[in-house]
This record gives sequence, C-alpha cells and structure tokens, in this order.
Amino acid sequence: MIKNLRILIIDDEQLIRWSLEKHLSAQGHKVFTAETGEEGIKIHGLHNPEVVFVDNKLPKMQGLDVISKIKTTDEDTCVIFMTAYGSIETAVKAMKLGASDYVNKPFSLKEIDILIEEISGKLQIHKELQVLRRQQKIAITFDHIIGQSPEIKQVIQLAKKIADTEATTILLLGESGTGKDLFAKAIHNSSSRKDKPFVTINCSSLPETLLESELFGHEQGAFTDAKKLKKGFFEIAEGGTVFLDEIGEINPTTQLKLLGVLENRTVRRIGGSKDIPVEIRIIAATNKDLKKTVEEKTFREDLYYRLKVFQITLPPLREHKADILAMAEYFISQFNPQFRKSIKSIAPEAQEMLKKYNWPGNTRELRNVMERAVILENSTILQTESLPGEIISLYDELLKRNKPHQIPDLTFEHESATENASLYEMERQTIIHALKKTNNNQTRASKFLGITRDTLRYKIKKYHL
Ligand SMILES: Nc1ncnc2c1ncn2[C@@H]1O[C@H](COP(=O)(O)OP(=O)(O)O)[C@@H](O)[C@H]1O
Ligand SMILES: [Mg+2]
Repeated sequence: MIKNLRILIIDDEQLIRWSLEKHLSAQGHKVFTAETGEEGIKIHGLHNPEVVFVDNKLPKMQGLDVISKIKTTDEDTCVIFMTAYGSIETAVKAMKLGASDYVNKPFSLKEIDILIEEISGKLQIHKELQVLRRQQKIAITFDHIIGQSPEIKQVIQLAKKIADTEATTILLLGESGTGKDLFAKAIHNSSSRKDKPFVTINCSSLPETLLESELFGHEQGAFTDAKKLKKGFFEIAEGGTVFLDEIGEINPTTQLKLLGVLENRTVRRIGGSKDIPVEIRIIAATNKDLKKTVEEKTFREDLYYRLKVFQITLPPLREHKADILAMAEYFISQFNPQFRKSIKSIAPEAQEMLKKYNWPGNTRELRNVMERAVILENSTILQTESLPGEIISLYDELLKRNKPHQIPDLTFEHESATENASLYEMERQTIIHALKKTNNNQTRASKFLGITRDTLRYKIKKYHL
C-alpha cells in the first residue's frame, strides 16, 4: 500500500474536512482541503493530488461540475464522490463523468480506509505498467545479453563483428529459448541501421498466402481482398532489418521468392510487374536443423546456402551452465521492481539446484522460473521453496544417486587413536559442509548426509555446531 498519497478534500462542511484530514494525515498521506469547488480546482492544479474527494453539494460550483473539470485536466486523478444517502442517480452521473467511486454520507472512516487501500493498489499497478512500458522502449543491445562463459562470449563476439558489416544476411540457429530474438535485436541496434525499422515476422504463424502478402505486399486489385496497394515488410523496412523468425517453416513458393530477394535485392509485389529495389538486411532464425530439412527436400538447398553464409549457433543453456547464476541474478533484478520485491541473493542450495537442472526450455525457461520465484519469495534471499517442484526433485534424485561417492564412510570404528581424531574432525567438517550447502536446512542436510534428522540433531549437539 502506498503510504504517501496526495489527497484533496473538497467539502464545505468543516467537520468532514477536519475529520478526513486528521485521519488521513495520521496514515502518512499529504492532505489538502478546500471549501469550494473553485478553490479545489485551483489546489488540484497546483499540487496534482492523486486522489480527490468531492462533495456533491457545494456553495457555488456543484460537485459534478468539479469532477468533470478535474477529469478533463488530468484523466489520471482518482475522484471519489461524496453524496447524501439515497441519491444514487447523482452517484451514477458522477461515475459517468469519470469518478472512480462514491461514498454515501454519513460514512465511517473504515469505509474510507478500504477505498484508499483499493486506490493505492490500482495506482501501484499503474506505476508498474509505466515502468514496463519504459522497459519495452529501451532498445536491446549487446549490453542486455548476459553471459561470461567462453561459449556465449564467442557468439557475442561473432555477432558484434557481423553487426558492423554491411547488408550481410545472418542465420541464427539454436533451440527455442536460446536468445535468437534477443540477438537479432541486438545486432540491429548495434549496426548503422539502428535508426531504421526493425521488422519481425514469424513465418510459422501466418497461412501461406497471407505470409506472402505481408512480406512482398500487393498491388491494388491483385486479388479479391486487395482493395488498396499495400507495401510489404521488405519495403517497409527500407534501410533497416527484416527478422524472419522460424524460417524453417516457409513453404516452397515463398522460399523461391525469398531467394529472389536475396539474390537480386529487389521485391515484386503480388500482382505487380516492377522489381522494386530494397536495401535491407535479412536475419533469419530457426530452431530446426535446416541441413536436415534440405536433405528431406522440404527446404531449398540454394536458399539454405544463401542464408548460411554467416551462421551463428546459439548454445543451449545446458552447454554453458557457468552463466546460469549470473542470468538468474539478472532476471531477479529485472523482476524485483515489477513485483515490489527486494531479493538480494540466491540461497546456496537453490544455486546448486539451478546449476544441476538441464533447462530444456533454455534461457526462456530460466527467466520464467525466476519470475515465478520472485513472485513467491517473501524474504530477501531466494529460497529453494520458491523453485518449481521438478527442479527440486531432480536435485534430490541426484543427491541420492551420488551419495555413496560424495559422503565418506564415517562408521569405521577400528582405527588408531590419531585416525579416530581425524575421523572426528572429518565428520564434523562434513556436517558443517552439509549445513552450509543447504543453508542450514536440517531436513535437507540430513538427506544429503543419508542420516535421520534426529541423528543430525544429535551430532550438531555433539560437535557444538
Ligand atoms: N544471454 C541472454 N541474456 C539475457 N537474457 C537472455 C539471454 N538469452 C535469452 N534471454 C532471454 O530469454 C528469453 C528467450 O529468448 P528469445 O530471444 O526469445 O529466444 P528464442 O528466440 O531463441 O526462442 C527472452 O526473454 C530473452 O530476453
Ligand atoms: Mg524466438
């Protein structure tokens, strides 16, 4: 709940002004009061309060007029209409003019509290949306690509190098969720084309004829629905980049036309007879094995060779696990403000779990898992409990399987005195290690050690841990 709202009360009844002001200021809000509509509108203009209470019956200007004036000045102001009990019709009018809610006089302070709480919830969401919109507007660059592993560094370097070269066609390969979209945008925004359009088209999402008319455009009257001339994406993107996602899905006729674009750098609209020159860069992406589709004869070989001149293969996340934690932390920092959290770190055992998991959905899956975790986590350290069940159970499975190798046999008894002493120390260290690794979670630590929780408790006492 927002504690420091600016609230304006417009009412000619002194008692109402006084009691609301006293009550709301005590909650930490900044409260302004006005006796008349005119005065209220002036204060609204000066202090831009988020919430305004307006009485219906005011000396000169009436409540409804005040509402419409305020709402036309600032649509975002949240207006609460105060009206005598029973005058529901006026309340309806107020709502039509843009009031968010109304209260019947006399009202209790409890009612006001509920209202304010609702409003502050809505305002919070509104603020978050603004943050989101702002984030979406930020142009993606290589600075937004996380990863220090040699595998990822190598592809970033290659992509940066190609970004600088003129017009070269680029083929991005990689499983779903490995960052093909992200790389395509980063390449565009790091190239000299960055101020020109970046147009994306997902080749698998459109039926054949529609895809063609989107890509190449059509002349007026080219077919029944072609009422007007329409430019295609290749023309629209003039000077910029066209990102053809899921290129592996395009049909043979479109493949042939695309080949024409790549070879001649011209497009012909559907129903047209002119070849229109286009200056664009094409970035194509697919999660399919294009070579195999060529062998299977569903993808043209000549097009494949045209596309693959500069090929970048993004590694699946399981092949650069060294980046998992940095990425996870990056996503937490992105989601923290969105969900009003302040998670600072990831518990050691949760880190282990993230590293052990295989991430079939790659970075997209990691991002989704972190989003869910940030929503669920209520402390400042991300705990294992906020991770999905399958990631936890896989980890437990691995622990069970590895136990015989990891845990030294501590039950030996026929040892010399010195060996016994070191064994004592070894057991102590193993327990300390297990507790650290599990962030002092005794249940998990005992599982890890393969002993019961009671035994663990006993040993913790024994070793004064
Ligand atoms: N190296 C990376 N650094 C930061 N975020 C990444 C990285 N790779 C992928 N992502 C994020 O993962 C999600 C999926 O990436 P995306 O580019 O849509 O994958 P693809 O197009 O290959 O399916 C996006 O939210 C993207 O921003
Ligand atoms: Mg994609």
